[in-house]
Amino acid sequence: MSEQEPVVSGESTGTNQMTRRRFVILGGVFGAAIAAGGGGYLAANWGPDETEELPRVKMGDSMNKVLVVYGTKSGCTSGVAERIGAALAGTGMSVDVLPAEDKPDPAGYDGVVVGSGIRVGQWHSAAKDWVRANAEILQNRPTAFYTVCLTIATDPEKTDEVRAYTDPILAESGIEPVDIGLFGGWFEPKHFGLIERTVLKAMKAPQGDHRDWDAIDAWTAGVAPKLKV
Ligand SMILES: Cc1cc2nc3c(=O)[nH]c(=O)nc-3n(C[C@H](O)[C@H](O)[C@H](O)COP(=O)(O)O)c2cc1C
Repeated sequence: MSEQEPVVSGESTGTNQMTRRRFVILGGVFGAAIAAGGGGYLAANWGPDETEELPRVKMGDSMNKVLVVYGTKSGCTSGVAERIGAALAGTGMSVDVLPAEDKPDPAGYDGVVVGSGIRVGQWHSAAKDWVRANAEILQNRPTAFYTVCLTIATDPEKTDEVRAYTDPILAESGIEPVDIGLFGGWFEPKHFGLIERTVLKAMKAPQGDHRDWDAIDAWTAGVAPKLKV
């Protein structure tokens, strides 16, 4: 696949397949590097660019209030969250789109959609912590989950593997999601630090923005009625 050709959800790349095993192996190597004292350097090179404003959006105006929460490191998942929010607002719902690190209170909402990007097979801690902190409230209102990562973009058949990224969070929180969306993310070098770029290149991750907006819209259209009280 050329670098200019984004992977379309539903296509298999054949080569360059990124498996969880490879992520885990490279994650182990990576973890060892952190343990060896690279933590300060990584902290400086990882995580969102603090100079960039995270989107906080209010959309629509109606009785049905929905909260869309996201965890992101590079900004990819915030774009997915905004798209989901816009699609829900298009159905007449009142929607707030907020980063998990803002710790929004879900109590005032009828339904919730929460998602995260993935690092080494796991949701970001801000998103996990938010779910954990609000588990009781989320158990009592329709809540949909979504995951944004590269495995599903490079190998769309690996739905079980990617859905399993949310298993520990669901088991711990006791939430029964109304749906789980699995979306391709990006490997846009300009959004990643040196270490992250090196890891993704070593894994032969295909460069590009692999977010499939049609797939995200279709999933959101299916989820919208499930969020209504
Ligand atoms: C260090 C690192 C580890 C990653 N680990 C995984 C992984 O285990 N599985 C996967 O599918 N994608 C993995 N990815 C890809 C990201 O999930 C993808 O780039 C996503 O779009 C990031 O979105 P975010 O920055 O909004 O969190 C990894 C990316 C990096 C930089």
